[in-house]
Amino acid sequence: MRAAVEEGSASSRPGTYLNGVFDAAHEMSRQAFVTPEFEVVAAPTSELVRAPSWGLVRLSADGEALDLDSAELVSQRRVLDMARGVLVREWTLRTSVGRTRLRSLRFASLAQRNLLGQVLEVTPEDWSGELEIEAVLDADVTNDGGGRHLVKIRATADSDEAVVTATTQTSRVDVSMATSARLLAASGEPLPAEGEARDRAALQRWRAAAREGRTLRLEKIVGVSTSRDADEPLVAAREHVVTAKAIGIDALVEQSADAWAERWRDSDVRIEGDEIVQEQTRFAIYHLIGSANPLDERASPGARSLTGERYKGHVFWDTETFVFPFFVFTHPPTARSLLMYRYNTLRAARDRAASLGYRGALYAWESTDTGVDLTPPFVINSAGERLEILTGEQEHHISADVAYAVCQYWDATDDDEFVLSAGAEILFEVARFWCSRATPGAGGRQHILKVIGPDEYHEDVDDNAYTNLLARYSLRRARAAADWMHETEPQRWRALVDRLGLDDGELAHWTEVAEGLVDGREDDTGVIMQHRGFADLEPANLESYEPRSKTMDVVLGWERLVATQILKQADVLMLPLMLPDEMRPGEVEANYRYYEPRTSHDSSLSAAVHAVVASRIGRRDDAMRYFEKAAKIDLDLEHGVTAAGGVHIAALGGMWQALVFGFGGAAAGDGRVGLAPDVPAAWGRVDFALYWRGSRFVCRVEGESGRCSEDAKVP
Ligand code: IFM
Repeated sequence: MRAAVEEGSASSRPGTYLNGVFDAAHEMSRQAFVTPEFEVVAAPTSELVRAPSWGLVRLSADGEALDLDSAELVSQRRVLDMARGVLVREWTLRTSVGRTRLRSLRFASLAQRNLLGQVLEVTPEDWSGELEIEAVLDADVTNDGGGRHLVKIRATADSDEAVVTATTQTSRVDVSMATSARLLAASGEPLPAEGEARDRAALQRWRAAAREGRTLRLEKIVGVSTSRDADEPLVAAREHVVTAKAIGIDALVEQSADAWAERWRDSDVRIEGDEIVQEQTRFAIYHLIGSANPLDERASPGARSLTGERYKGHVFWDTETFVFPFFVFTHPPTARSLLMYRYNTLRAARDRAASLGYRGALYAWESTDTGVDLTPPFVINSAGERLEILTGEQEHHISADVAYAVCQYWDATDDDEFVLSAGAEILFEVARFWCSRATPGAGGRQHILKVIGPDEYHEDVDDNAYTNLLARYSLRRARAAADWMHETEPQRWRALVDRLGLDDGELAHWTEVAEGLVDGREDDTGVIMQHRGFADLEPANLESYEPRSKTMDVVLGWERLVATQILKQADVLMLPLMLPDEMRPGEVEANYRYYEPRTSHDSSLSAAVHAVVASRIGRRDDAMRYFEKAAKIDLDLEHGVTAAGGVHIAALGGMWQALVFGFGGAAAGDGRVGLAPDVPAAWGRVDFALYWRGSRFVCRVEGESGRCSEDAKVP
């Protein structure tokens, strides 16, 4: 639920999104949405559906609207209470009758994920008269690009409840919301309501005698259910409300706050000496916790999580590479669910590989609930030019990123059952893909041709080192998993081998390809070449373009840009973060020195990775600078335009990694958690917790020392 003002305003756009509910509407506008570069994406595609606005409240005092567009705003304060997961707003409006003080609270329950709640208190400060309140459930909603996804809307209302049901236009997901609101007089007595159903909205209305200084209180409980979670969503939504009403809204807030407290206990990173960094950190963790549901194995967070419509809610490698580690180490059940999303979309990944002439599984660069690739094939830029988007066709490293995540989870949890029932199949199908994707060359070398690596400013390149090294890692780990399964679970191994049609020759081929893949080490400088021919590109002097508010593709134009060594984001520098054991002595420093000045950080994924790497090699100032850059992406007005499309969840996940793996220097291995911290002096002590192989460790780091101790065994 976005924090739009509840009474509606021209300057505030409400949005509630339901994890995993996607749809492609027929009449979606061609002007789908505005990108940071003010390009317009032209191809309509499936997107995260804007659900009915459940928190809309229309208010009038003696017939005059109490809203920001008609009344005078005397004061306003909006507080996101991240500890308890509630949004609190206090504001005062002046109309011709006088001043009215309002206070509201809204929450989406973390304890019962089908419940939403709202409280609104209205106090006439210096007038008495009639107050009209309508608590509306509004299904007359469209997405930012104009897509009207909710069809077959039915609205009903009476004095006790308002209900809307709808179906998404082409994906046919049934969505039901049931609300029950009551208005309490200052005495606590509920006041009589009337219900009204309109075409696409249902509401409850009260006309109350308001008295100066006496507070009226609206309480609204909302149950939401879809055909993704219930056979009869309407019945389920109503049941959620009935149960919740028996508990009462105050207790529901507390239940949810308790659930938040439990998650904060395991996820918080406490920074003793810097309030601002502390707040930025908690902002990141708050959004990470809210991005995924451990109980839903068919959904995964999109690039802007559930907070906005940029990238249409599509899932990218952002999940596995940036967000996932947070869950692996703070809430493994959520990490498992995210992997199950990939397992449950394996079929689409197999089809995609086959459609491009490969074997195994090629995960979609951009996907929704189905796992089908939905990367837009082109964009029209502000000059009206059509630009082809090749990421969908060429950014294949995502399959290795998914395999990497499977291994990271397995290493951290020892959840062999997950591997036996799902993880191994992902690993084997990804290994199969890389074998068919690689091209043999001279001397037993293997090459991966025509790809895009993480640096999306260089397309159609051969042997991107990140892709090759991650492919090699996934092939090696698939082989090791096969050997392990063969030995420890021969029957299940046999069943899987039969189902997938694997044979010994294929396993040997995995090893042959893995060991043959070239790795970008071309000389003895320690610099890993990002891709073949990178060194021949025009050297870049990014500093000469500072200060800069536009991305480098806009500054230089695409054709000029691709001829240079300018990187969009960390590419080779992803390797010290993900494959630290692969790095040879001196290589991290050499690659940082080489790539950092060439990187434009035009992607929000870049800064936090630089913070981790800089911190690992003792470049504290750089590490701090990059951490701050990442932290500001969603909190700074400078980035307001892009944050309006939702928080950058990968950057927030990257911040957590920078804190724990970078400054905190945490590295898990050999059944224990090791630390090599380098904490800025101004931060004082930093505390965090990590799950590792069934134990919870609490860690405290300060300066260059730290300690992790086992806190509890997890059953
Ligand atoms: O996945 C990223 C990509 O690495 C850079 N462009 C934006 C995508 C979504 O965040």
